[in-house]
Amino acid sequence: MKLLITGGAGFIGSNFIRYILNKYPDYKIVNLDLLTYAGNLENLRDVENNPNYKFIKGDIADKNLANDLAKDADIIVNFAAESHVDRSILDSAAFIHTNILGTHNLLEAARNNGLKRFHHISTDEVYGHLGPNDPAFNEKTPYAPRSPYSASKAAADHLVMAYFHTYNLPVTISNCSNNYGPYQFPEKLHGLFITNLLEGKKVPVYGDGRQVRDWLFVSDHCEAIDLIIHKGKIGETYCVGGNCEKPNLEITQKILELLGKGEEMIEYVKDRPGHDRRYAMNFAKIKSELGWEPRTNFDEGMRKTVEWYKNNEDWWKTIKSGEYLKYYEKQYKER
Ligand code: NAD
Ligand code: DAU
Repeated sequence: MKLLITGGAGFIGSNFIRYILNKYPDYKIVNLDLLTYAGNLENLRDVENNPNYKFIKGDIADKNLANDLAKDADIIVNFAAESHVDRSILDSAAFIHTNILGTHNLLEAARNNGLKRFHHISTDEVYGHLGPNDPAFNEKTPYAPRSPYSASKAAADHLVMAYFHTYNLPVTISNCSNNYGPYQFPEKLHGLFITNLLEGKKVPVYGDGRQVRDWLFVSDHCEAIDLIIHKGKIGETYCVGGNCEKPNLEITQKILELLGKGEEMIEYVKDRPGHDRRYAMNFAKIKSELGWEPRTNFDEGMRKTVEWYKNNEDWWKTIKSGEYLKYYEKQYKER
C-alpha cells in the first residue's frame, strides 16, 4: 500500500507516520509537507532513513506537485492544515489557502488519478460549541463553525463530501476532538503550559478557565485513522473523541501537580475572542462499526506527555527561541 500523507511533519501527522511504519513494514509513505512554522523534520528524525519513507517539501496547493505525487499513491491522508485557532484570529489568509484551496487541490489530484481513498482529517470545531447540558456532537450535528480556523475546516469538509456525491470520489472524513501527546507544538495548551513551567514561567489561562475540551491521546487518534482508512465506509464521516471532558483549569492543575508547581504559576489573561465554551464527541459510530475506542486514560496520557517534554528539552527550546516568539508577542500585543 502506498500512502501520500500530507502535513506529516506536524504533531499528529508525525505520530501517524511513525505508527504506520511500525505496524505495516511493507507500506510505502510519502510525506508532503511545506514545513511552515509548525512543520519540523526533528519530529521524524528516527524514521528518516527508513527505506519505506520519503519526505517531499511542498505545498498541498501546488497543482503539478500534488498531481505528480498522487500518480504513485493508493491513498491520500490529508493532515496538512493551519491548525491554531489563535493564529486564525490574528490572520486567517494562510488558513484559507491551505485548509480550503489546498484540500481542493488534493481532491482534484485524487480524482484525476483514480485513487482508492481520500481520507480527510477534520475537527470537532466544525460543529460549533455546546452548552453545559447539551448532548455531545455526533455525525449528524449540523455544521456551525465560529472561528476562522473552524470555518476553513468546515469548508474543506464540505468540498470533500461534494467530491464524493458529485464525482464518486472514495472519501472518508474523521472529525476528532483535542489531541495531546508528544511532538505537539508549544503554542497549544499542553505544550505551552508544560514548557512554560519547565522554564519557570507562568501559564496564561484564558478567561475563567472553565472551557471544556474532550482530550484524546494522540496514539489513540492514530489507531482510529488506521481503522478508518482500511475499513471505514466510503462516503462516511466518523466522530472520534477521547471520552475525557475536562475544563482547562483541571488540565492546568494536573500539569502543575505533575511538575510539582503551585497555583501561583497561573496567570488569568484576557479571553480568546469568540472562545468556544465546550466540545464533546460522541464516538458511538466508530465504536460500533469499527470497534475503536480510546484506550489511554487521562492520568496515563498526562504523565506520558509531561515526561516527553521533560525528556525533549532541545526540541522545544529550539522552537521557542525562533519564529514562535514573534507570534507570541504579536498575539498579546493585539489583544
Ligand atoms: P500541526 O499544526 O502540528 O501540523 C500541520 C502540518 O501541516 C505542519 O507540518 C505544516 O508544515 C503542514 N502544512 C501547513 N500548511 C501546509 C501546506 N500548504 N502544504 C503542506 N503542508 C502544510 O497540526 P496538527 O495538530 O498535527 O493537526 C493535523 C490535522 O488534524 C489538521 O488538519 C487539524 O485541523 C486536525 N486536527 C487537529 C487536532 C489537534 O488537537 N491538534 C484536533 C482535531 C483535528
Ligand atoms: O477541538 C479540536 C481542535 O483542538 C483542533 O481542531 C485544533 O487544531 C487544535 O488546535 C485544538 O484547538 P483548541 O483551540 O481547542 O486548542 P488549544 O490548545 O489552542 O486550546 C485549548 C483550550 O485551552 C482552549 O479552550 C483555549 C485554552 N487556552 C489555550 C492556550 C494556548 C488557554 O487557556 N491558554 C492558552 O495559552
